[in-house]
Amino acid sequence: MSAAKNYSRRACLGTGLGLGLGLALPTAQASTAPVRIGFLVKQAEEPWFQDEWRYAGEAAAEKGFALIRIGVPGGEKTLDAIATLAALRAQGFVICAPDVKLGTAIERTARRYGIKVMSVDDRLVDGLGHPIEAIPHMGISAYEIGRQVGRGLLDAAQAGGWSLAEVGAMRIAFDELPTARERTRGAVDALVEAGFPAAQIVDAPSSKSDTENAFNAATIALTKNPRFKRWFVFAMNDEMVLGGVRAAEGRGLRADAVAGIGIGGSQTALNEFARPDLTGFAGTVLISPRRHGYETSIDMYRWITTGEAPPPLTLTTGIVVTRANLAEVRRKLGL
Ligand code: GLA
Repeated sequence: MSAAKNYSRRACLGTGLGLGLGLALPTAQASTAPVRIGFLVKQAEEPWFQDEWRYAGEAAAEKGFALIRIGVPGGEKTLDAIATLAALRAQGFVICAPDVKLGTAIERTARRYGIKVMSVDDRLVDGLGHPIEAIPHMGISAYEIGRQVGRGLLDAAQAGGWSLAEVGAMRIAFDELPTARERTRGAVDALVEAGFPAAQIVDAPSSKSDTENAFNAATIALTKNPRFKRWFVFAMNDEMVLGGVRAAEGRGLRADAVAGIGIGGSQTALNEFARPDLTGFAGTVLISPRRHGYETSIDMYRWITTGEAPPPLTLTTGIVVTRANLAEVRRKLGL
């Protein structure tokens, strides 16, 4: 059977439209249709998401399915992308949505087209803000990883011989995203439990989870709090921490006065650590784009081809790394 014919038959099966009268395939043949899987990410320019795509590509090459990568920076683009996937006869997709509150719309749209959906990184929520349990999810263990960040900051202060009394702890916040909230809450808890004064924690709310917006948020926080000689910087990811570190540099605060610990460990951190000068970006918690890209794609492939649904919830762990060992740890993990 030619690919084109196969295509139209799947169309008939998938949508239930009566256009292809008489073309319905027996089930055994239907299951040999080429597998096509979408991988939709909110910020395609971010190294983390490029890595996820790369590892999803490895799964595609290994299993022989077609991978359709689409960047979805907004709500309309997201729903359009699902329609595109349906037109391409994709049977499923993995998504990190630009806004988790799109959850119900995504679920409904996927169901309308008969496409399977699982989420990655950012867990989708319903109209009440509750996680949509029916959509399988793989994310990071946000709170625990946040605690690792908090402990990393304290270690950096100790290594530098800092007195905590002169340190402000900047939480560059993106609180509309639950995983972001949990990550920074973990860091705050670890700091406070270790005796860091809660009154020295400063919020810098950012309107997006990227470097530029974090830079702007951090600049405001630094201006408002000139009383601190040194700073901890933490946030939901490396990109935002980098924004905070650059903002501090703009005020003359260098590596001896700034300790930022990010979350990610992808190219953003590698680039920073490759610089000849020491910056305030002291470390990161390395998380696994392979698990998030490769494993989710394999999960989706298995769901489509065998009917076995992915685990409802998988939370991955992280490893604290520094400038000295990030590249080596990545190599060891095969990243
Ligand atoms: C969110 C962040 C990303 C990355 C992932 C990891 O989506 O925006 O930068 O940290 O989580 O799960």
